[in-house]
Order: sequence, then structure tokens, then C-alpha cells
Amino acid sequence: MTISQERMAALEARRAEVRDLGGEAKARKRHEEGRLTARERIDAFFDADTFQEMGAYAHHHAKEFGMDKKRMPGDGVITGVGHVDGQPVAIFSQDFMVSGGTLGEVHAGKIVDAMTYAGHCGIPIVGINDSGGARIQEGVDALTGYSRVFRQNIMLSGVVPQIAVIAGPCAGGAAYSPALMDFVVMTKKHAQMFITGPEVIRAVTGQQCTPEEVGGAQMHASVSGNVHFVAEDDADALRIVKKLLSYLPPNNLQEPPHAPSQAIDLTPNPALDAIVPSDPKTPIDMRKAIEAIFDSGSFFEVHALFAKNIIVGFARLNGMVVGIVANQPMVKAGTLDIDAADKAARFIQFCDAFHIPLISLVDVPGFLPGLAQERGGIIRHGSKMLFAWSTANVPKITLILRKAYGGAYMAMDSKEMGADLVFAWPCAEIAVLGAEGAINILFKNELKTAADPKARAAEIADEYRQKFAAPWQAAESGQLTDVIEPSRSRAVLSLALRNTITKREARPAKKHGNIAL
Ligand code: HXC
Repeated sequence: MTISQERMAALEARRAEVRDLGGEAKARKRHEEGRLTARERIDAFFDADTFQEMGAYAHHHAKEFGMDKKRMPGDGVITGVGHVDGQPVAIFSQDFMVSGGTLGEVHAGKIVDAMTYAGHCGIPIVGINDSGGARIQEGVDALTGYSRVFRQNIMLSGVVPQIAVIAGPCAGGAAYSPALMDFVVMTKKHAQMFITGPEVIRAVTGQQCTPEEVGGAQMHASVSGNVHFVAEDDADALRIVKKLLSYLPPNNLQEPPHAPSQAIDLTPNPALDAIVPSDPKTPIDMRKAIEAIFDSGSFFEVHALFAKNIIVGFARLNGMVVGIVANQPMVKAGTLDIDAADKAARFIQFCDAFHIPLISLVDVPGFLPGLAQERGGIIRHGSKMLFAWSTANVPKITLILRKAYGGAYMAMDSKEMGADLVFAWPCAEIAVLGAEGAINILFKNELKTAADPKARAAEIADEYRQKFAAPWQAAESGQLTDVIEPSRSRAVLSLALRNTITKREARPAKKHGNIAL
């Protein structure tokens, strides 16, 4: 039996409607603005001809406010699965050209289906957000749709990587779907993400602000911390997502794409010896240490513009994928503050969920002192780092480059917080407090009555430094695996990682812990 020409023509007509989406005029306008359409984004993202669309002909059932006469191809969202560098990845791409990419019952159902499929098949999901939010004409059905999307985001958290791209409006409660995903990439132009926009803010509070100030990419990447990557445009955003995926496993039951070198490169790198400035007050540039230790050009920074006093990101070490958490002494002297703690804890938790080994590079004078920090809840935020490190049972290796003081020493993963191996450079300083702070407490009375308090203070500080501004007390008490020359760091960490990569560490059975969120 052959299929009749009418039926084939009907298929072609349906396909044409779906391909056309919002029409040529709207597409032209987008191109003039330097933006891609929802379908062009999908084509740009996937390997050629690998995209399998799902539910292309789905249509809304709404009747109110003229909806019964409104044709909306694909109900304003394209969903399906394609290949990125040969690996399947699920996607939803909201189509602003179809009624503002708004979310109604069927639109939400398509997104939830794609996410459910991703969860069942163990493949990452990428969501491209470009939408006016809940479709007003569908009332509570639209809100129900969002509830389903959020719940599915939460169900998939820690099961498959979830990456959101904000490439247009993402307003109101809609912003919670990206926030519930693992990483958020946002384009510099044409994208805004907020719970309440400038109009509502003005009406309720009288405050004047621009959409950029309240929800632009730059603000979210550097101030609110809601965005991990800022992209120049749509194409750049998709390039960032692809690069990110190249470090991740497809799901929580598979290993990350490790490709360990057969023969581990053990060559010393003298550049690392030169990284420590002779003046103890001159900060180490942690970025230089990262470049010298990890495989050349492999470092991919996450959250680069937020809480710059801590650096997080992915890299490869002799081919093995790792997550790096590193203090940056060039910013706020490398102290840990509220934002740094939030940034690091979330990253550690992500790596743990997806079996990505963690390497902590430590040079931290302590938590940032100050009224704003205490009132802002540094205790509650800082504890997230302790919690994240100790719950993580992936391979964890710590290298102390210079300072490791007080609670911050633990918040960067000391041996007793759960690090498998802890190395230190000979210039490491591991103690409760720095010399000045410590002697003012311990010798307060003696210094008050000393004939020459300054000279006596210098004398005691010197004695304190000999004892504590060194790695040896920690080494003697079994807290260090070894003290190593900086130049051997790459070799030592590579061997340590290779030896630890098969780690399996069971945890006591419980429903879940109760992290101080
Ligand atoms: C229905 C909507 C819509 C909405 C936009 N449209 N938003 N339709 N429901 N929420 C339609 C417009 O009528 C128009 O249809 C098309 O989308 C394009 O919109 P324009 O306004 O012409 O585009 P533009 O000037 O670029 O402005 C885009 C915009 C603006 C900034 C997104 O449309 C806007 O402010 N929309 C409302 C945003 C909002 O407040 N959403 C609700 C958020 S609360 P035609 O047919 O002319 O092409 C929310 C709740 C989630 O989402 C709850 C979760 C718990």
C-alpha cells in the first residue's frame, strides 16, 4: 500500500507551518537585531541533521480571549534531542515569535516531556529561555504548567546536568526554572531575568531602574550571582554550553569524560617556584598557579565575574577532569565572604553530584571581618562550604600554597573535613590566627606592661611565625600527606588524582542532611 498524495501533502503543509513559526517578518527583525530564531538556535547547537523533534504539532486547547481562533505552531516551544560532539542532549527552545514564547498548559507539557525523557535516558537537558512568561489567557493552567516544569527541574537535579540559556525575557516566576538548573548562561543584549521588573518596582517602591539594572546579564553575573556565564550573543551562548558539556558526564551514573594519559607527565615546572613573592604581604596570583599546574589551556572558569575572591571551574590534569576551588589572594586578600561561600558550596555540590574530582588550592587569611558580613549571615553562608566539602565523597585533594588560617582552613577542605590527600608548599602557614592577631590576644597583659611593647611584640611575633607560619606543626600532627616543592605540584597532584580516581566512600543512610541554605 502506498500513502496517498493528499496525505503526503498534508504532512508537508503541517511541517511548513511548524517551520515557519512566527513568520518571515518577525524572523527578519530578529536577524536585524543580531539574534537567532528558536529553530536557528537548535540548528546552531547540534551536529548537522541529528535533531529529532518531539511533539512538533502539539497545539493548545485554550478558548478564552480569542485563543480558540489562534494557531500557535508548536505552542511556542521546540523540544527534542540532538547530538553535541556525538553525544545526545535534550533541549527546549522557547519561540518568542509565537505569542511571545509564553508558557501555557501544552507548552509546559512539551518541556516536561523533554525533561522526563532526559531523566529516563540519562542525558543532559539544555533550556533556551525566551518568553513573556505565564500565558495570561490560560490563567491557572499556565501557573500549573510552571509548577510542573519547576518540579521536574528539581527531580532531575543531581541526575542529569541541566543548563539554562537566557536569550530573551525571563520574567516573574519563570526565572525559577533557570535558577533550579545547574548553570545559567545569559546573553549580553536582549535578555532580562527578574521576578519583578522596572514597572512593578516603580509602582510598589517608587524606585526608578532600567531593565539592565534590575535583570541584565552583567548585573546577574557580577552582583546577584544568578548567572554563571555572560555570552556576547546567541552563538556565543551555545558555544559556552557546548564547552561546558565537554567536561561533564551525561548523568550521575556515569563517569566524567576522563582521558588519563598513559604515562603521567611528571616534569617539574620551575615557573611554580617563582610564583611565591618574596614579600609575604604581596599576594600570589592564583590564576598563574592554575595555568601552571593544570593541562595547558584546559581551565574553564565558572562564575568568573561573581565573588572574584574565590575561583571555581573545570580543568584537566593529565587528561583527567577535575573541579577546582581556589582562593584568589589578589581580590579581598583571598578572604572568604558570603558570596564566595555560596559560589564555592554550589560548585562543590555540583561536582560531587556528577563524580567530578575536586582539587582545592588554598591561600586564605580567614573569613572577611566586618559588620556587613556578620549581619548578612556569614556564619550560615560559610557553613555551606563546610557542609558541601564533607558531604562530597568524590576524590578530594588539597594543596596549601601559602596561608590557611582559622575556619577558612577547614572551609577549603582540610584532612579532617574529608580531603583524601593534603599537600603543602614549604612556605605554607597553617594556624588559628595570623601572628599579629594571635599575640595581641595571648600576650595582651605582658605587652601592656613591657618596657618596650613594640620590640617585645615583634619578638613574640617572630617566635609565633617560626612555629605556626610553617607547615611543620600540621605535618607532624598527621594533617599533611607531604610537603612538596612548588615545581612538583603538577606531578604530585596528577599522581594523587590518578591514585584516588577510583575512590568509593559510602555514607550513613539517611533521608537527607539539613544544610543551612
Ligand atoms: C500572553 C503575551 C505575554 C503573556 C507577551 N505576550 N507576554 N501573551 N501572556 N504573559 C504576547 C504579546 O501579546 C505579543 O503577542 C507577543 O507576546 C510579543 O509581546 P510584545 O509585548 O509585543 O513584545 P515586546 O515589546 O518585545 O515585549 C516583551 C515583554 C512584554 C517584555 C516580554 O511582552 C511583557 O512585559 N510581557 C509580560 C511579561 C510578564 O509580566 N509575564 C508574566 C510574568 S509572571 P502578539 O500576538 O502581538 O505577537 C509569570 C508567572 C510565572 O510568568 C509563575 C510561576 C510560578
